[in-house]
Amino acid sequence: MLTEEEMLARLKPGCICKGIKLHIILTAIENGADTYEEIVKRTNIGGGSCNSKRCRAKVATLLGKQS
Ligand code: FES
Repeated sequence: MLTEEEMLARLKPGCICKGIKLHIILTAIENGADTYEEIVKRTNIGGGSCNSKRCRAKVATLLGKQS
Protein backbone atom coordinates (compact mmCIF):
# COMPACT_ATOMS: atom_id res chain seq x y z
CA MET A 1 0.00 0.00 0.00
CA LEU A 2 1.25 3.44 -0.94
CA THR A 3 1.90 6.07 1.69
CA GLU A 4 0.07 9.37 1.43
CA GLU A 5 3.31 11.02 0.25
CA GLU A 6 3.74 8.41 -2.50
CA MET A 7 0.13 8.82 -3.63
CA LEU A 8 0.53 12.61 -3.83
CA ALA A 9 3.76 12.21 -5.82
CA ARG A 10 1.83 10.21 -8.40
CA LEU A 11 -0.56 13.11 -8.86
CA LYS A 12 1.79 16.07 -8.58
CA PRO A 13 3.53 17.42 -11.65
CA GLY A 14 7.28 16.96 -11.92
CA CYS A 15 7.96 18.59 -15.27
CA ILE A 16 4.82 20.48 -16.21
CA CYS A 17 5.98 21.23 -19.74
CA LYS A 18 6.51 17.55 -20.58
CA GLY A 19 3.64 16.20 -18.47
CA ILE A 20 5.97 14.05 -16.36
CA LYS A 21 4.80 13.34 -12.84
CA LEU A 22 6.82 13.91 -9.70
CA HIS A 23 7.04 10.21 -8.83
CA ILE A 24 9.05 9.56 -12.01
CA ILE A 25 11.68 12.05 -10.81
CA LEU A 26 11.62 10.63 -7.29
CA THR A 27 12.18 7.12 -8.64
CA ALA A 28 15.20 8.31 -10.64
CA ILE A 29 16.67 9.87 -7.50
CA GLU A 30 16.00 6.72 -5.48
CA ASN A 31 17.81 4.76 -8.19
CA GLY A 32 20.94 6.86 -7.91
CA ALA A 33 20.48 9.93 -10.12
CA ASP A 34 22.12 12.75 -8.17
CA THR A 35 22.31 15.62 -10.66
CA TYR A 36 19.74 17.41 -12.78
CA GLU A 37 21.50 16.21 -15.94
CA GLU A 38 21.35 12.58 -14.82
CA ILE A 39 17.66 12.92 -14.00
CA VAL A 40 17.04 14.44 -17.43
CA LYS A 41 18.71 11.41 -19.06
CA ARG A 42 16.62 8.96 -17.06
CA THR A 43 13.25 10.72 -17.16
CA ASN A 44 13.25 12.98 -20.23
CA ILE A 45 12.27 16.05 -18.18
CA GLY A 46 13.46 19.48 -19.25
CA GLY A 47 13.68 21.21 -22.59
CA GLY A 48 10.12 22.47 -22.42
CA SER A 49 8.66 25.91 -22.95
CA CYS A 50 9.84 27.19 -19.55
CA ASN A 51 13.40 26.41 -20.62
CA SER A 52 13.70 23.96 -17.69
CA LYS A 53 13.31 26.69 -15.07
CA ARG A 54 10.50 25.02 -13.13
CA CYS A 55 11.66 21.41 -13.10
CA ARG A 56 15.31 22.36 -12.53
CA ALA A 57 14.31 24.28 -9.40
CA LYS A 58 12.15 21.36 -8.24
CA VAL A 59 14.99 18.88 -8.73
CA ALA A 60 17.40 21.16 -6.87
CA THR A 61 15.00 21.19 -3.93
CA LEU A 62 14.58 17.42 -4.02
CA LEU A 63 18.33 16.79 -4.21
CA GLY A 64 18.90 19.27 -1.39
CA LYS A 65 16.49 17.36 0.82
CA GLN A 66 18.49 14.16 0.41
CA SER A 67 21.69 15.38 2.02
S1 FES B 1 8.78 22.23 -16.26
FE1 FES B 1 10.28 20.99 -17.11
S2 FES B 1 10.84 22.02 -18.94
FE2 FES B 1 9.33 23.26 -18.08
